Amino acid sequence: MRVQINHRLLPLITLAGLSLAGAAVGMASEPAANATMTDGYDGQAPLSAVAQLGKKLFFDPSLSGGGQISCATCHDPANHYAPANGLAVQLGGLHLDQPGIRAVPSLAYKMSTPSFSIGEESAGDEAAEASPMTEASGVALANAPAAIAGPLTAQAVVKADAAAANLVPQGGMFWDGRVDSLEEQALQPMISPFEMACADAATVYAKLKKGYGKEISALFGDNIANDQDMMISEIGFALARYQIEERSFHPYTSKYDDYLRGKAILTDAEARGLKLFDDPNKGNCASCHLDKMTGDGQMPNFTDFEFEALGAPRNPAIPANADAHYYDTGICGPLRNDTYSTQQQNCGLFKTPTLRNVATRHVFFHNGVYRTLEDVTRFYVKRDTNPEEIYPKDASGKVLKYDDLPSQYQANIDVIDAPMNRKLGDAPALNDAEIADIVTFLKTLTDGYDPAKDGVKAAK
Ligand code: HEC
Ligand code: HEC
Repeated sequence: MRVQINHRLLPLITLAGLSLAGAAVGMASEPAANATMTDGYDGQAPLSAVAQLGKKLFFDPSLSGGGQISCATCHDPANHYAPANGLAVQLGGLHLDQPGIRAVPSLAYKMSTPSFSIGEESAGDEAAEASPMTEASGVALANAPAAIAGPLTAQAVVKADAAAANLVPQGGMFWDGRVDSLEEQALQPMISPFEMACADAATVYAKLKKGYGKEISALFGDNIANDQDMMISEIGFALARYQIEERSFHPYTSKYDDYLRGKAILTDAEARGLKLFDDPNKGNCASCHLDKMTGDGQMPNFTDFEFEALGAPRNPAIPANADAHYYDTGICGPLRNDTYSTQQQNCGLFKTPTLRNVATRHVFFHNGVYRTLEDVTRFYVKRDTNPEEIYPKDASGKVLKYDDLPSQYQANIDVIDAPMNRKLGDAPALNDAEIADIVTFLKTLTDGYDPAKDGVKAAK
């Protein structure tokens, strides 16, 4: 199912590679990275021709098997590229009646996601502060070499710091990291039976040739327009280019961004929430959801891109879960099928998502089991201290802890990182007032902050 990317055309499947290839087809000039960084969202540079093609593809329902849904149906630009409705999983397929198996992630802030790898665990906050982990940050297009230097530098710094580093999976697209990049990813939704549901790559090719043949010939040449694999990798490239160039995928215009730039002051409750979010003995959230500006002034993306098994409760609202023998084990499948998916230590692990715009999401975690940020935060602090409040009970009244992971994988669940390192009967790391403060802080992460109104204006 994996798309063959043509390596002669795309020498590097990286942002730098994209940028070079983009330049070759006449990319519009980009604003200086620094100006963008300090001033935030001041308008949009014109999209390159390739990105404009990507934009048309992104919104085109005729590319789906049933002709009714496009990327934008699930990744709604009006809701920070996440679904506007409150369903745990979206409906797709030819007749829009096939439920998915995972919550739809936002497509915002994806462009600095590194390729999937097994690497050394980051040393958390300190490493983030010391090194440009979030290098690409949606503004580094003009200096792509710096964009790829970022993660390499970060690794080096972390290595030097962390003597007892653990090897952990990190990076990649999707909750299970099964593809490496935005451009490699694009065919998957088109042929997924519960998403756009084209029968196969040949069907996608036929649709593209019909709708975009001339444009693709003009941009990339007839050779490409007449070759199925090359055409499909080029449209992956165009979709990725759109998600990179279009500023609303990574605007960095939240109140918290203004706060980091010294342009906004947090309210008392927001400031308390941030402190609890950072405090290793309280929320400890920032150890995975990195929230510091990096040494070279890049904004944080609220993820370390690492995978963890948190043991979220099973969500009965996902139809696939009606089968008691069915489990979504993240890296171990059902959607991932490679060497990593056969390794027991990876089972139950999911990618740490960004928390940017998290207050505009309707469902949380890979299975959409939670509907409020209070419930998510309560899960972290009560999972071990008061599991009876988190998990269902069986007929005899026994609490079914970790009920969404087969017992042979439950040893993978993180019981080391605070606040998930407490024991039954301990006091939870956060009380209700503190949970409320963290949630108040999370609301500062929504893009479109308008200082004049001291609030968040509707996303454009
Ligand atoms: C029917 C809903 C639906 C449609 C239509 C859809 N997606 Fe998605 N998308 C999802 C779901 C669900 C996931 C998460 C799947 C997983 O993790 O296994 C996802 C994940 C992604 C990701 C990975 C994001 C991350 O956090 O790693 C990207 C990128 C993406 N989609 C792009 C697209 C593009 C481009 C299109 C159009 C060609 C598209 N999607 C169409 C539902 C959809
Ligand atoms: C050990 C790393 C780690 C720590 C510590 C951590 N998280 Fe997470 N967070 C994750 C991972 C991994 C997921 C995805 C889990 C899944 O879907 O199964 C996640 C998901 C989330 C989500 C859901 C986002 C979405 O789009 O679905 C929220 C909200 C969240 N975390 C908030 C917090 C808060 C608040 C704290 C501190 C109380 C915290 N996290 C601490 C790793 C961590």
